[in-house]
This record gives sequence, structure tokens and C-alpha cells, in this order.
Amino acid sequence: MNIERILSEMTLEEKASLCSGGDFWRTKALERFDIEPIMLSDGPHGMRKTNRNHCPTQMDEATAKAVCFPAACATASSFDKNLIEKMGKALGDGCQAEDIAVLLGPGINIKRTPLCGRNFEYFSEDPHLAANQAIGFIKGVQSKGVGTSVKHFACNNQETRRMAVSANVDERTLFEIYLTAFEEVVKNAKPWTIMASYNRLNGTYTTQSKFLLKDVLRDKWGYEGLVVSDWGAVDEREKCAVATLDLQMPSCFGKTDAILVQKVKSGELDEKYVDDCARRVLELYEKYKSNHIGGDYDRSEHHRLAREIASQCAVLLKNEDKLLPLDGKGRVAFVGAFAKTPRFQGGGSSHIDCTEVTSALDAVSEYAEVAFAPGFEAESEAPDETLISEAVELSRNSDVVVIFAGLPESFEFEGGDRKHMDMPACQNELIERIAEVNPNVAVVLHNGSPIMMPWRDKVKAILEMYLGGQAVGGAACDLLFGKENPSGKLAETFPLRHCDTPAYLNEFGVGDNVEYGEGVFVGYRWYDKRQMDVMYPFGFGLSYTQFEYSDISLSADEINDTDTLTVSLTVRNTGDCFGREAVQLYVSDPECSVSRPVKELFGYEKVALKPGESKKVFFKLGKRAFSYYNIDIHDWYVEDGRFDILIGSSSRDIRLTASVYVNSTTKIPVKFNINNIIGDVFSFDEGKKMLLDFILTTLEREGRISSKDLEGEIDPRLLCLFNDLSLRTTMDFIISDGITRETLTECLDRISDAANGLK
Ligand code: BGC
Repeated sequence: MNIERILSEMTLEEKASLCSGGDFWRTKALERFDIEPIMLSDGPHGMRKTNRNHCPTQMDEATAKAVCFPAACATASSFDKNLIEKMGKALGDGCQAEDIAVLLGPGINIKRTPLCGRNFEYFSEDPHLAANQAIGFIKGVQSKGVGTSVKHFACNNQETRRMAVSANVDERTLFEIYLTAFEEVVKNAKPWTIMASYNRLNGTYTTQSKFLLKDVLRDKWGYEGLVVSDWGAVDEREKCAVATLDLQMPSCFGKTDAILVQKVKSGELDEKYVDDCARRVLELYEKYKSNHIGGDYDRSEHHRLAREIASQCAVLLKNEDKLLPLDGKGRVAFVGAFAKTPRFQGGGSSHIDCTEVTSALDAVSEYAEVAFAPGFEAESEAPDETLISEAVELSRNSDVVVIFAGLPESFEFEGGDRKHMDMPACQNELIERIAEVNPNVAVVLHNGSPIMMPWRDKVKAILEMYLGGQAVGGAACDLLFGKENPSGKLAETFPLRHCDTPAYLNEFGVGDNVEYGEGVFVGYRWYDKRQMDVMYPFGFGLSYTQFEYSDISLSADEINDTDTLTVSLTVRNTGDCFGREAVQLYVSDPECSVSRPVKELFGYEKVALKPGESKKVFFKLGKRAFSYYNIDIHDWYVEDGRFDILIGSSSRDIRLTASVYVNSTTKIPVKFNINNIIGDVFSFDEGKKMLLDFILTTLEREGRISSKDLEGEIDPRLLCLFNDLSLRTTMDFIISDGITRETLTECLDRISDAANGLK
């Protein structure tokens, strides 16, 4: 396909029209050039193919059945890039079979607050983890010749007023926390498309932000793919074109296409912007055509894979007296509505019409005979005494009770945020009442984000399954009965109270503005810096076996920031069953001129180990691992100094440490001016000497001081006072004809040159 030739033959009207949807899910056909519509479909953890046109009063239901894999909240907890790549490959096969050109996902927004209603679709509070899980996902899907759409670019961290709100974020926080995952994904996985979000960023809709889409995404990061709007996220189409948003979805029924044409004709918009957008739509079309092979896929095999993946994502939060795994003997009771009808996916555009669902009650016959009592109704909040009493009676007469609880779907869905972190009262009461009559209680949780667990000390085991996909019941049984060993780690902190959370004071904002006042201190970065206790820390998760860490070694004691540091260590399975451990690497910068997190995740590896087996684990660290985003140079910057490398089993269980000295190879240019404080100049020894020389020799020359006045030390109190004075103000305090704005500026220029090494 000769894209340039087609472009040159297309009319302006055709080009403008190609850059908006043909219907709700497809691009436009251009019969004159044999171009057919191609389909974009949700996503992310399964295909939500729908052929219907959107109905304004109903959620659009999927028309093709598909396999629902675990949602991102779960797959992030696997801390396993290879596992999610495997899932991506399966999704890619499914998309080929359904003629889907682009799967709308993954969602990689950072979990700024646990209340965001769409957190279940996002990976983590940590950008490095989100990036790497997303890279695995994208590589998997795209290896099958199907595109992905990384969403929602950017700072769509809440559902409240998502189409109007402006996320107001300072530059450092933006790059260190909210853009990092997008940057890493763009550079390492080359997604076919990126989806610009609904919200505004610092006042401008992201769909029409030249800063975000052109200056950062394309020019700074080198992105060459297509940018599509979130569904209905376009305001002023001509501004979107200039910002390089290529495709407006869904169909605008020609309305904004006409605006583009009119703006070009009136000379307000250069046609080259429309050409560029149309070119990228044609390139996407060509990618689809040259990769589309169709075919079919084995739905039962994908269901089996969904079970395997879910079992490697679950996080064992508590296991007192080794209650788990169960041996299947004695009287086992399953309690809770979610044992029969599991909660395994969230509401909204990611909602899959599943090929089949395996509940824990379906799967448990593979391991044991159990008695069942529902205890509550899935969507209810108020306790139902009849259901509770029945479950309590069953529990009283059982040896062990497994309660399947969590959040109803109505608590977590696209378009709304949670109001609190509580589970429904009926579930909390059920657990408390059962714990009163039976000492052996395990709780299996189905939820997309952290919850409060007032009964936490009264039960022996807690297994967090998250929203584990359509085979979650099977995976839960595999874990409960020890066929699989839990190996997930929390990709987000479970706080003790909602009011402890980083964004609490500015959670969803006021009106159409939300201030990201917590800055870079999101997730564990916040709890660590404030030295707060949490319920379960980031990176935490137990196993049925134990692991021992040893032999940390660094490839060098001192490096330049352009070098790569290799870190190695050994992990050994010291228990008596097979297990997987997610080894985590954090970097800490103990001394820095800007306030930095206590530690930040920069590497993780999942290692599978037989009992007694040990393996060496390697990490490679480049400049980014030691940098912070410097707003003077608008770039990443390493401040010279010692950095600690921390190897942990969780963010609060550091097992090994080592240090490296890193030298910066970037010099930040200094430019002193008369509005700097004296302390700025004094912090640089030669600058201090030059400035004092200038002032004192001028005063001496003018006969205002004598050489005698210059003998001895300057009073330290005076020096301290001087330190915070602006240079401009000193002129008001010193009587001198020779110290003027001009001569002081000349002196400061000389000092700046000296600081920059030019003299
Ligand atoms: C959601 C996107 C989704 C799109 C298409 C939007 O409302 O924010 O995540 O891909 O709809 O369903």
C-alpha cells in the first residue's frame, strides 16, 4: 500500500473524515482506495467485541463471548512480566479470531487513591511496576499482529468528573510518577496506539495538549504510532489535530470533520496537520492488513490459562498456624455468595461476556467435599439475619471455614469512585460472627482495590484473589488445597485508614480542579516518607514455603551515571515445597538537595524454586534508577553521591543492602542574578570568595572601610543573616557608588562562568 500516493490523491474532506470513527467501534471505509473499516475493541483483560451501535441509556453489552482473564489489579500482583506476556499472546490470538485490529488496553494510570473506581483496571501505585507489566502485556498482544492502545494518557486517576476535571500536577511529579510508565512503554514496547484521556491536565484537555502529545510523547520520547481519543474525549478538533491527536472515536457523524475542513479552508489550520493524522490512520490500517491472519482459538485452553494465571497473581496476606494449605480432610465449609458466584471482573467498558465461569464451589470437588451456606447476597449491604445464622450454624459444626467475601460489582465500576474503603456491613458481620464460633477461618477476597478488614485479627488466613478472571474459583481452590503455592505480592499498599492515604486532603478536587498536592509521594513513597504503619505494605505477600536471600554483589563500587550497574544475589527455597518468589530491588538516595522518596522500586524478578534449590538473580541499573526529574533542565538528573541498593521480599522487608557511589556526568548550568539570595552564591566556595572580594575591595577603594575592618573573622551571626538576603537587597543596605545593579550583575556573570567551568 502506497500511503503517500493515497494521501496525495485524497481530498481534504476525505482526509478529515478518515480521522474520525465510522461508527462506535470502527474506523471509516474509503472505497475509492479499497480501504475497509477496522475494529478497535475493549480490553484490556479480554475482548469485549460488540457489533451494536451505542445506546445512550444502556451499557453496551458484548456480543461475542470471550475469555475473561484476571484484571490488571491481579496481574500486577504476579510481579511477573513473562506471565502477563503469555496472557497477552492469548489475547492476541483471540483478537485475530474476532478480526479485532486494536485491543483497547492496557490501562496504566497510577493508583493515586485507593478509591478510584477504575483501579481494578490499572496495575499499580508504582510506575516501574506498571510499566513493566504493561510492557509484557503489549509485547504479548502485539507479537500476534494485533495492536494495543495504552490508556488513559494521562493523569486520569479518578472517575469523578473525569470528562471535566483538570489534574493539576507539578512538572517533577508529572514526569516521575504519572508519565514514567507511558514513557517506558513507548520506548520499550512500541504500542501501535495510545489513547488520550478524558480529563484536562493543568487546564488543557489531554486530547488537545500539544505539550503532552507532541512535545513529550512524540518529540521527547520518539513515539511514532497513532493517538486515538478516549470515546467522546474531543473538544476542539482543530486543536487536537495540531496537538497530533490522529483519530477521534467514536463517530462524530461528520460534525467535527467539517470543522477541520473549514479551518483549513479559512487558513486557520495548516493542512499538513490533517495530512499527518490521516497518514497515521493509514499506517494503522496497513499494520492491521499486513498482520491480520484470522483463525480461531481454543476457548477451553484459554480458560485453563486464565486459571493458571490467577493462581500466580493471588496474594496470601495472612496464614497463622499454617492454616493453609488445607489437607481436604475433616469437615470443610465454604461460606459466602462469592463461593457460588465469584466476583471476578469490574464494571464498565472492560466487562466481558464470558465463555464460562468456574466458581470455587464448582472446582472444590477436585479436592474435597464441602458444605455451603451463602451468608449474604452479593449486592446487599445490610446484614440478613437468616443467612448469617445459617452460615454461623454450619461454621460451628465445621473443622475449617473458608469465607468468600469482597466488594460487590456496584462498588467498583467505570464512571464512579468509591466513597469509602469498607466492605458491605453484611459481609463484615458475617466474618465476625463466624470467627466467634470457629477458630479456623480463612477469608478469600474478591475485590479490585484495598479494603478495610476490621476482622483481620480474628481470622487465621486471608487470601487476596483480587478480580481474578472467569476461572478464579478454580485458582482459589488450587491455592487453598496446596496444588499451587501463593506467590503474588501487593502492587499497592493496603493502608490502615482511608485518612492515611496520600491524596486524602485533595482526593477528587474541588469543582473541576484536583490538586496533586502530595507530589511524588504516592503509594509507599508516602507511607515510607511519613514513617506510617500500614495494614499490608507494597510488595508484601506470603508463601507456603520460605526463601533465604544471600550474596549481594555489585559490579562496581563507583560508577558514572552513564554506566550500567549489575546487581546480583542468591535466593534459596529453604522450605519443603515448590514456590515462586518475587525478588524486589529498591534504590535509596539518602542525601539529596530535593526531597526524594525513601526508596523506589527499580527492578523485580520472579524466581521459581524447588525445595532446597537456589538461583542467582541479576538486575541491571542505568541512569534512571538514580535520577530525579530536575525542573531546571527539564530532564532526569543524578546528584553525585552514595546510593543504597536494597533487595527485599517486600518494600518493608529488606533482606540485603549494598552501596554504590554515582558520579553525575551532567552539569546543570548556573546563572546567578541579583534576585538570588547570597546563600546561593556562598554555597559555591569560589563564588563566595569572588563576591566578598568584589564587595570589600569596592568599599575599601571608596574609603568606606579600612583594611583594618577586614581583619579577623566576619561575625557568624551576620553571615547567617546575610545568607538569606537577596543580592538586590544588599545594595539597599550598603552605601556604595561602585556597587550598582550593573556592576553586581557583571560580578555575578563572572561567578556564573566560574561555576560553569568557563573560566
Ligand atoms: C473508556 C475507555 C474505553 C472506551 C471504549 C471509555 O469510556 O474510558 O477505557 O476503552 O470507553 O469503550
